[in-house]
Formats: sequence, C-alpha cells, structure tokens
Amino acid sequence: MPSLAINGAAPVRTEPFPSWPMNLDASARAAGETVRSGQWGSIQGEKVRSLEQRFASFQHAEHGIAVCNGTTALVLALQAVGIEPGDEVIVPAYTFIASASSIVMSNAVPVFVDIDPLTYNVDPEKVEEAVTPRTRAIVAVHFAGLPADMDRLGEIARRYGLALIEDAAQAHGARWGGRGVGAIGSIGAFSFQSSKNLNAGEGGIMLTNDDDLAAAARSLADCGHTEQGPRYNHFRIAGNNRMTEVQGALLLAQMDHLEAQADLRHANGEFLTERLGAIPGIVPVARPAKADRHARHIYMFRYSEASFGGVPKTRFIEALRAEGIPASPGYSIPLYQQPVFTERNYGVYRSPALSAVDFDALNLPVTERACYSEAVWFSQNVLLGGRDDMEDIVRAVAKIGEHRDELGEA
Ligand SMILES: Cc1ncc(COP(=O)(O)O)c(C=O)c1O
Repeated sequence: MPSLAINGAAPVRTEPFPSWPMNLDASARAAGETVRSGQWGSIQGEKVRSLEQRFASFQHAEHGIAVCNGTTALVLALQAVGIEPGDEVIVPAYTFIASASSIVMSNAVPVFVDIDPLTYNVDPEKVEEAVTPRTRAIVAVHFAGLPADMDRLGEIARRYGLALIEDAAQAHGARWGGRGVGAIGSIGAFSFQSSKNLNAGEGGIMLTNDDDLAAAARSLADCGHTEQGPRYNHFRIAGNNRMTEVQGALLLAQMDHLEAQADLRHANGEFLTERLGAIPGIVPVARPAKADRHARHIYMFRYSEASFGGVPKTRFIEALRAEGIPASPGYSIPLYQQPVFTERNYGVYRSPALSAVDFDALNLPVTERACYSEAVWFSQNVLLGGRDDMEDIVRAVAKIGEHRDELGEA
C-alpha cells in the first residue's frame, strides 16, 4: 500500500490556500469611485500623490515617486544615481531578471556575484571582491522579502564611493533593525505587479531620503520635466512612466491590510522555519536577527537531494503538490545563464563594454545549487493561511520525509 499521494494514497489536504489578491470589494469600491470621479491620470488626481506619501511613510522614507511598474522603478533609480555607459553594477545572480536587465537598460554592465548559502541573499564578501575601478553601484536585492545585509553593503558602498540601490520589489513591509527597507541605501525600487505583497496588477515606486535623488527620480518618471519648471519644458531624456489614478486607488485600498498581512506572513514564516527545520534533509533559508520583519514574498527552504537518496528536487515538489501543497522550484537557471546573456541579445542596449563580457564562463556555485537542486518555494498567499494550513504544510513535508523511499517509485 503506498503512503504518498503521488503514488495514489490520500493527500494531506485538498482545500486551496488563500487566493490573491484579497479584499476585492473594498478595492472595487475604491477603483469605481476613481473611475466615476473622471480623474484617471495623476496630473489631475490626488490618489497617486497620497499613495506616494503613505507608502513612503510605511517604509520610513521621506520621498516616494510612483511609476508604472517595478522594472521601470529600477531603471529610473539607476539613472537617478547617475549610472553612465560602461559603468559596472554589482548584482546577485539569484533574482528576477529585472534586477539585471534594468542595469543593461541603463547602458551599464551587470557584474553577477554569488549568494550566501544560508540566507540566499547577496554575499557581501563576494560583492567586495567584485569591486573594480569601473564599479559605480551595487543593487542589493531583498530577495524573497528578506532584507539583504544593509550594514555590510552600506560599509562597502561608502568605502568605495558606490551608490547602493535597493531592489525591494519583493520586500513590502520588510524591516532591517526596525527600519523599513527601500531608503536605507541611496534609493530603492518596489513592484506592485499582481503576485506582489502589495498589488495593483502593475505598478512600482522609488523611495529615497535624498532630496536631489528624489527630484531626479520624479523628473525621470515624468517626461524629464521638473516640479518647478513650466509643464512643457523638459530637462532630460525620459519617458512617460507615470502611474494611473486607478492603480493609486487600488493600492491605497490594499494598504489598509498591509501591516496585518505583513505580520501574519512573518509569524507563519517563523512557525514553518521552526517546524520544517526539524525534518531531516530540509533546511529553511535563514533569517538574520536584524531582519526583524521578513516580508515573505516567498517562503524558501533548501532541499537536500543527498538526504533524499538522490531523488531530484522536481520529484519532491511533485510529491508535495500531490499532497495538496502548492510548492514551486523557483528559478531553474542563474541569471547569467539566461539566453539574453549567453546569446548576447542586447538589442539597442548593445555596447562594447557589455559585448566583451563572457557570461557563459561564469560559475557561481551557491546560486547554481539553489536553482538546480536545493530551493523550494511557497508563494506569499500561502503564508496568509491560518495555523491549521501551516500545520498541513509541515505534515506534508514530514510525510514525504518519512516515506522518502517511495519517491523513487514512478
Ligand atoms: C526582485 C525583482 N525585481 C524587480 C521586479 C520587477 O517588477 P515588475 O514586474 O513590476 O516590473 C520583480 C518583480 O517582478 C522582482 O521580483
């Protein structure tokens, strides 16, 4: 008689986990009121301005500049700090493509470095080793919602005179030593794309405490005009990257729940870490004590193939899904192995400095292990379940662990 659902036994659960987004009625009311107001664009309305102030204050930042999506927020943040053609920008290789494509879209060269095996965030030692006379900035990704080590990265940035840009696309509500992420470095970028912990379908925002960077970011977000200058005078090359009032209204409505959701995800993450960590072959990704609120956009643990008799991660994930737990393998290749880099498909961003880099020759072992064999993900909405739901996750992983011999059976 099989014990595992993948082999035909009863699954641990059949109930779905909470769906995302939530609080649809309040969001529909807010969007409807904005539509009826006739003020759909941020030049006329007040929603985007309110969102900028409210979200900046939520993350303990002085300035918020809303834009159409997170990729644009990153590109504009890089441009605001003055990245120039051919500059090198250090970035981890285990992250979403936009962390690196934004560097290419700023005519600079991404320099990929490895992640820390315990936190899966960028390894500050590797960052320092990668600094050259051409380095201009570091992109610190708060991957999965876990704040990167902003103390060490801040020291390195100061020592070498580099800009420190926070890719906080996954880190709404994350705190480092009690401080909201996003404006701890020079400038930060968040995403409000559908899967994100704060969502309007699409959207993004830059945060900073620096008045000059805020002015540059606002000008870059809005056709290169300035707050003081006449509307049709333009001072730099910049597109229309503005957020709409409907996006602003949706985000304001969703923000009513953000604090409570962030606390719940954090608490459920702590519970899972304590319980899953007791199962042989399962090592939850670590949260350093100073990361005092983990946004848990993704809950991640490391699966040990060796401890599961060489059974590949993909098979373990199929087994988990069969038990009713929506697990994902996450990114299957490091960023430097993406076809855009190995085939040098840079389009209009082609430059001699970028074309000279042989990304194929790179080998970052911790990133590769995470992609190929170790990382298992749950998305943030799973962490919005109750304690019973978390118990089911633990039960499913423990059950597969106990019957690991059965995983080999096809
Ligand atoms: C780490 C990271 N950076 C940047 C982005 C880009 O954000 P967007 O999809 O809003 O352009 C995302 C999200 O998709 C992300 O996860």
